[in-house]
Amino acid sequence: MINFFIKTFGCQANVADSQDLAKLLTEIGAQEVESENSADLIIINTCAIRELAEQKLYSYIGRLSKIKKIRPYLKVGVIGCVASYRKQELYSRFDHVSFVYGARDELQTLKAYLINLCNELMTTKQFFEQHPENVFGQGQDRDVKKIVETKKLLTIPNLFSKASKINSLSYKPQELVRSMINIMTGCNKYCSYCIVPFTRGRETSFAMSKILDQVKKDIENGAKEITLLGQNVNSYIDPESNSRFPELLQKVAEIDGDFWVRFMSPHPQDMTRDLFEVMAQHGNKLCNYLHFPMQSGSNRILQLMNRNYTAEEYLEKIGWLRSLMPHATISTDIIVGFPGETEKDYLATREMLDKIKFDFVFSFIYSKRKYTKAFEMDDQNTHEIKVQRLNDLQARQVEIALELNSQKIGKNLKVLVEKRLTDDKLLARTEGSIRVLVSSTENKVNSFLNVEITDASVTSLVGKF
Ligand code: 5AD
Ligand code: SF4
Repeated sequence: MINFFIKTFGCQANVADSQDLAKLLTEIGAQEVESENSADLIIINTCAIRELAEQKLYSYIGRLSKIKKIRPYLKVGVIGCVASYRKQELYSRFDHVSFVYGARDELQTLKAYLINLCNELMTTKQFFEQHPENVFGQGQDRDVKKIVETKKLLTIPNLFSKASKINSLSYKPQELVRSMINIMTGCNKYCSYCIVPFTRGRETSFAMSKILDQVKKDIENGAKEITLLGQNVNSYIDPESNSRFPELLQKVAEIDGDFWVRFMSPHPQDMTRDLFEVMAQHGNKLCNYLHFPMQSGSNRILQLMNRNYTAEEYLEKIGWLRSLMPHATISTDIIVGFPGETEKDYLATREMLDKIKFDFVFSFIYSKRKYTKAFEMDDQNTHEIKVQRLNDLQARQVEIALELNSQKIGKNLKVLVEKRLTDDKLLARTEGSIRVLVSSTENKVNSFLNVEITDASVTSLVGKF
């Protein structure tokens, strides 16, 4: 049997792609393992959004060469955004990388390749297990073609202590069954800082009929949380019927079953009122939550970022949401230190935090990415200034989050239990994805509960039921 391990970096779209591949590999008889140390096939799904993510990736791939020395038949493949634009570099830098498939490449081509690869791997694994002393890899693609000193390598050191894993929708009773479905991929927006349009290509939406089938299938398999994903979910357009995102959302909400639905990420420019209306009308299924990337509160910077909205328009749309869904949880993404950002621009962003009071803010220091328009822009801010702005923003957000979370004490909230943390504690989340620690020894994983909130901190709530 082939053991596979998928390491996923980056966004939820990558998690969904990894989940899809895990499903395929499981269907053809391979088995997902929880650590690189016991894998015959390692697939790394990569993220290029910030430079740090890429650096982490390279050191991770480098470390895998140690496993390849121990099990020379191991196949290591790199897929996703970095694979899209650094294919040659990945091949030339790492001898132990056997295949590279970019995020733009057809997932179907990759799947066909993996089916063949697994067959081949079965043979080479068996051969190696029977003749570990032999020259290995004759005729293999890019594999090590050296004599391997297997005798002194009988035990595999634990190179990767923190095992990561993804949920491939197989039955894992200890964890919430999540379904993450890419409804579209790519992006036509060309925000001036962002590499995504270059790594994932132009927008492509998947057929609504297929998406609905997938949702139904996943619900039958026990999924309680459906997340519809895309770089720009609200520019979704069904290639078969021309239906737009609000219609898709409504159709998903009309499917029978006990589940809830999230989506990410919408672009403020394409946000129409009818989307909020559908969310408000189907509040039993569609989560009372919006992730709404703002990026900056300064109109000058928003324009340089090519975001196509102003701070006022952004606020207006938040107003629509609040009028239709007064208790919605709202989160956002913010970049500080964009080229040309002055103290005044930064303060305009900070002011938006006070005006809107987001429940969470994902904040990032601007990272210069090749190919993007901002790459050429003059970046006069020092790293210290950027770090200072990030720290200041995060400190303000900590205060806001504590204030908002404290207001939930005494309220009854519906939560979905994700996993058991300790013998008497469960981890659950609200519709708005806020962590809730629930005291219970009962097996409630993958169930909805109504809990009373008894305490709050910056990052989580405490609930009893
Ligand atoms: N530098 C910093 N943050 C970035 N993001 C995208 N590109 C960059 C970059 N070059 C952030 C944006 C986006 C989130 C997913 O990542 O805030 O919404
Ligand atoms: Fe990147 Fe902008 Fe597209 Fe989002 S909308 S993926 S930030 S280019």
